[in-house]
Amino acid sequence: MSNVAYSRHDDIAVLTIQNPPVNALSLAVRQGLMAGMDQAEADSGVRAVLIVGEGRAFIAGADITEFGKTPQAPWLPDVCNRIEASPLLVVGSMHGVSLGGGLEVALAAHYRIAQPSSRVGLPEVHLGLIPGAGATQRLPRLIGVEKALDAITTGRHIKAPEALEMGIIDKVEEGDPEAVGLAYTRSLLDEGASRRAVSEMPSPQAIDWHAAYDATLKKGRGQISPAQAVRAVQASVEQSFEEGMKTERQMFMDLMKTDQREGMIHAFFSERAVGNLPELKGVEPRALQSIGVIGGGTMGAGIATAAVLAGFEVVLIEMKDEAAAAAHERIAGNLSGAVKRGKITQQKFDALTTVALTVSTNYDSLASVDLVVEAVFEDMDVKKDVFGKLDAVCKPGCVLATNTSYLDVNEIADSTSRPADVIGLHFFSPAHVMKLLEVVVADKTAADVVATGFALGKALGKTSVRAGVCDGFIGNRILATYRTAADHMVLDGATPYQIDAALEKFGFAMGPFAVADLAGLDIGWMTRKRKAPTRHADERVPTYIDRLCEQGHFGQKTGQGYYIYEKGKRGGVPNPAITRLIEEEQTALGITPRAFTDAEIVRRYMSAMVNEAAKVVGEGIAKRPLDVDMTLVFGYGFPRYWGGPMKWADLQGLGAVLSDIETYAQEDAWFWQPAPLLTKLVAEGRTFDDLNKEAAK
Ligand code: CAA
Repeated sequence: MSNVAYSRHDDIAVLTIQNPPVNALSLAVRQGLMAGMDQAEADSGVRAVLIVGEGRAFIAGADITEFGKTPQAPWLPDVCNRIEASPLLVVGSMHGVSLGGGLEVALAAHYRIAQPSSRVGLPEVHLGLIPGAGATQRLPRLIGVEKALDAITTGRHIKAPEALEMGIIDKVEEGDPEAVGLAYTRSLLDEGASRRAVSEMPSPQAIDWHAAYDATLKKGRGQISPAQAVRAVQASVEQSFEEGMKTERQMFMDLMKTDQREGMIHAFFSERAVGNLPELKGVEPRALQSIGVIGGGTMGAGIATAAVLAGFEVVLIEMKDEAAAAAHERIAGNLSGAVKRGKITQQKFDALTTVALTVSTNYDSLASVDLVVEAVFEDMDVKKDVFGKLDAVCKPGCVLATNTSYLDVNEIADSTSRPADVIGLHFFSPAHVMKLLEVVVADKTAADVVATGFALGKALGKTSVRAGVCDGFIGNRILATYRTAADHMVLDGATPYQIDAALEKFGFAMGPFAVADLAGLDIGWMTRKRKAPTRHADERVPTYIDRLCEQGHFGQKTGQGYYIYEKGKRGGVPNPAITRLIEEEQTALGITPRAFTDAEIVRRYMSAMVNEAAKVVGEGIAKRPLDVDMTLVFGYGFPRYWGGPMKWADLQGLGAVLSDIETYAQEDAWFWQPAPLLTKLVAEGRTFDDLNKEAAK
């Protein structure tokens, strides 16, 4: 059945794409467009063809669900060439989004009109690909190499007014897409406009390809598709259109076979699946209009900033007047950053810092809020005291959330008279910037409270992941383990600087020691002290970094940690004191340092991460491997193009990962205890992704 309807309006044929929800270019749509063009050309009296999309978008691109399967003819490049080669005048009328192959169909049309609110873009690089239906050849001919490279290598969504300025579209007009499209086509016919095939436009001007390639590769931190896009655009200058199309196709097909493409597409679907939990089917979230925040430090102020920006009324509670004033200033500082970046106007800033935000020292101000997030000091007694007060003042049905990073949410919940209303909402600092939210579900948390946590995350623009209760939940628990693997490598001879460099080369935004400096070394120091009494005798815990903390050096905030930071400079230089302290500890422990290759560093670090992640899934703390993947990608700088650590493990082969763990266990059986789930999957010849698929059924 064709998904493209044919209709006739005097001498204009209209092809309407009908493939909900977003008019992806599935096989039936490609066939329908081909048939529609044939029909229009055979239809006597037709002088022009208008292509429109029904529903919420013009076309959101190729059908991603077809990727990885054998492509079936007609292929999209042929469909685009067919449209462009028509002797009739072809016009595209775009609304909603026109992405990837969707924009390529529009570029094959001879003229393009779009709704002012619509967006165009070539997001293929976010799927580990390059455009595969002519955009790398047509767009540079239409708007020049530099602007084309900006669109293709960033994959950004471009709003219609900017697209008009860039020359991607010809006209912007508000109205029903078919009606404005018909009027525009009519005016073109009336003025005798001729066919205008982009492929026939002159070749664009060359640039310094070498420099562009290197800069793009560096910016992508090892992601290959944006850099490949530079090469494809180069072909638009150096080759004929036909040859360039072949070059683009070959590169597209080669990228299709890469692990990065698989990882990126896993991330695309996982990002959408995290909030799709069977337990929430049919469960309505509670109404959310006003939010309370307890504590106005960096975290509380960040949460309050995110909440006012999302349109909530916010009441923030601090203990004393001075602290309340400081909290207000912190939030205003965050919001003025949003003004500077052009995200909000000064007028909006004024409204948000006055009308939307109330800062108070009186818990009674929370009497009518719908949800409260506590972000006070990480101490169980302090938290219980806060929850006691909330229990007394908050209205029935108010959701009581803790932002604790590791404390037992069950214990907090049980200290109140309404444990079903208690949940963990673990934000990441700075909370108005970081995308991840762990929704921590305690034993007695009501389903509609969980749904409300997800609804809040969505309203704040976060990617929310469901986590169960354990020390560190999903992210910090796994972090503690892979950080430990890195610490062990330092004791055995790798330097923190080699480890950071190797992992940054792997694709992490920052290495673990640079991250520790940024987060504050006092956090890890406190955790080590907290865990010391229950530590197993075989646990290897380096103490050299405690010596630095004892001297008051906590990383970036004090100017010294693993690195030394100069005022005004972002990065640091290796701290010689660290090297000395490590050597002293190695001597005391009788360790002869050995050399590590970068590959071994990555392997050990990743094996530790995957092993702990498998325990987290096996114990039900994360419901599915994809929940772990999205936690690490959105909260811990894990390279998106690997899809997440569990996808990475699938791509390596779980047998190989388990075999590494067993090898490492020969030196340290305590730390490298294989996760039962990993062992089971290897024995059964299954993957983590199999578990994702089973959970989706
Ligand atoms: N193919 C298949 N399914 C798609 C799709 C696509 N291109 N784009 C979106 N969908 C699906 C989503 O998976 C989702 O499905 P479920 O409801 O079953 O979860 C549904 O459409 C709605 O999508 P969202 O929930 O994401 O809705 P949204 O309104 O938040 O966003 C969107 C809509 C902006 C189109 C967003 O979905 C998006 O960015 N899609 C991807 C666009 C893209 O990358 N296109 C390029 C494809 S590659 C290409 O075209 C290569 C080529 O040159 C041949």
